[in-house]
Amino acid sequence: MEFNKILETWYLNNKRDLPWRKTQNPYFIWISEIILQQTRIQQGLDYYYKFINHYPTVQDLANASEDAVLKDWQGLGYYSRARNLHFSAKYIVHQLNGVFPNNYKDLLQLKGVGDYTASAIASICYNEKAAVVDGNVYRVLARYFNIDIPINSTIGIKYFKNLAQELITNANPREYNQALMDFGSLVCKPQNPNCLECPLESSCLAKAKNTIDELPVKEKKITIKKRYFNFIVVNDGQSTLIEKRKGKGIWENLYQFPLIETPKKTLLKDLQVHPFFKTFPSNNIVCYNPKAWIHKLSHQHLYTHFWILELDQIHQPNKVKWSEIEKYAIPKLIHKFLESYQSK
Ligand code: ADE
Repeated sequence: MEFNKILETWYLNNKRDLPWRKTQNPYFIWISEIILQQTRIQQGLDYYYKFINHYPTVQDLANASEDAVLKDWQGLGYYSRARNLHFSAKYIVHQLNGVFPNNYKDLLQLKGVGDYTASAIASICYNEKAAVVDGNVYRVLARYFNIDIPINSTIGIKYFKNLAQELITNANPREYNQALMDFGSLVCKPQNPNCLECPLESSCLAKAKNTIDELPVKEKKITIKKRYFNFIVVNDGQSTLIEKRKGKGIWENLYQFPLIETPKKTLLKDLQVHPFFKTFPSNNIVCYNPKAWIHKLSHQHLYTHFWILELDQIHQPNKVKWSEIEKYAIPKLIHKFLESYQSK
C-alpha cells in the first residue's frame, strides 16, 4: 500500500477525538490551529473552549477589545499570535464582509497565517491539496525517507514542503494531513518512537538504516541574548502600580510592574540612582529574590529580580488594587511572581 493510504487507514482507527474535528467551520479551525502552535493538545483544549465561548463568531472576536483577547491568551506566550488573531478577525469582518477566505492562497493574506496555518485550514475545511508541514510532519518524513537535510535550513524547508506536497497528490487532504500530524505525535514520537506498532515500519528507511534517533536534523543557529530585568513592586498594602508595555518586542501591550532594565545584574545602590526614584523614596526597598529568576523565551533569557518598595500610600491615579491585578493581561512571569508573593 502507498504511504498515504497506510496513514489514512491508521488514522481511521486511531485518531484522537477532538472538538475541532467535529466541525469544518474555518473560524473554529483557525482558532484551534493557532492555539496548537503554542501548546499541546491537552492544554490547548481549555483555551479552545474559552475562545469559542467568549467569541463564538469572527464578529465577536473582531468586536472584542485587544486587552480582553490578550487576557484570554494569557499563559500561552508569544502574544503576537493573539494580536494577529484579533487583527485578522477585524480584517475579515470589515474588509471581507465577514466572509472567511476559502482557499490556501487567500488564507495566506491574513496576518499571522503562514504556510502551515493556511494549509491546515484549506485542507481541513475545504479539502484542498495543501500539505501541512509542522514539527510532526518533518519528523515522520525525515525518518521514513531517511533525510538528513536540516529541517530549519532554507533548503530543508523547501525540500520538505515539496516532498509533502508531492505525497498529498493521491491523498484525501483533510484526513491525510491530520493523519500525518497525529501519527507523528502518537507513534513516530521524538523520543522512544513506537516502531513495534508502526504500520510503516517495513518500508521505513531510517528503521532499516538505524538512524531513527538521529533524525530529524536541526541546525543550531540562534544566539540567546541575556537581559536583566528589575521589576519595582510598589506596595501600600492595598494597591500597586502597573504599566502597559509599549512598542515592539516581547509582551507588547501586556501589563507589568514598572521595569528598570540594566546591562547586567545590579546592586541596590546602583538601582537607587535610577530616575524612577526621583518620584519615589528609595530607602524602603528590598530585593524579593536575591537569586535571579531566569525566564526563558525563544531568543532571550530574562534574568529577573523583583524589588519590593513599601510605601504608606501610593498617590498615582493609575494605581491598581492587588485584588484586581489578575484582570489585566500579564506575562506568565508576573503571574508566577504574584502567586509566590501573595501566598506569603
Ligand atoms: N496539531 C496541530 N493541529 C493539528 C491537527 N489538526 N491534527 C493533529 N495534530 C495537530
